[in-house]
Parts: sequence; structure tokens; C-alpha cells
Amino acid sequence: MQIIVEGQEAPIPAAAGETILQSLLRAGVPFPFSCQFGNCGHCKCVLLAGSVTELPHSEHILAPEERSRGVVLACRTRLWSDATIRRID
Ligand code: FES
Repeated sequence: MQIIVEGQEAPIPAAAGETILQSLLRAGVPFPFSCQFGNCGHCKCVLLAGSVTELPHSEHILAPEERSRGVVLACRTRLWSDATIRRID
């Protein structure tokens, strides 16, 4: 499996069940994060494609408008297929 980060040539290797953030950090990709528990929102990104499940996180972290645009928390989003994301930072 792999993650394509929009605008970045090389895909990032990923493992099923890993979070987007875990895959990115393991590959040495600089990516903003802090709490890793869905409380700070620093790891927000847009999920453009991919099969995922979301782990519990603070309700107020993602506004309805963000959700409708596909914004997810990289630390709380588990991958089950290849995925494509867009950075927000
Ligand atoms: S690192 Fe804090 S919400 Fe993801």
C-alpha cells in the first residue's frame, strides 16, 4: 500500500491498519502533528482518495464544513487501501 501526497513525486509506503500520520513519520516525511490523539488538529489534511476508518477524536476538532471537504486527522485515520492526501499546512 502507499500514500500519495499531492505535489510530492515519490509515494509513501504504508501498511494496512496504520494511521496516515504513522506512515508519513515512519517514512521521514515532515508533517505537522502534536498530540496524536485527535485533540489538537495540527495534523489535518484532505483525504482525496482511499478507504479509511476514523478513530475517536475530539468532536469540536473538525467543523462540519471541513468534514464536507474531506478534511481528516492524519493521526486518527487508519488506512485500508492506497490513499491520496493533500496537505493543508
Ligand atoms: S496530532 Fe493532534 S489531532 Fe492529530
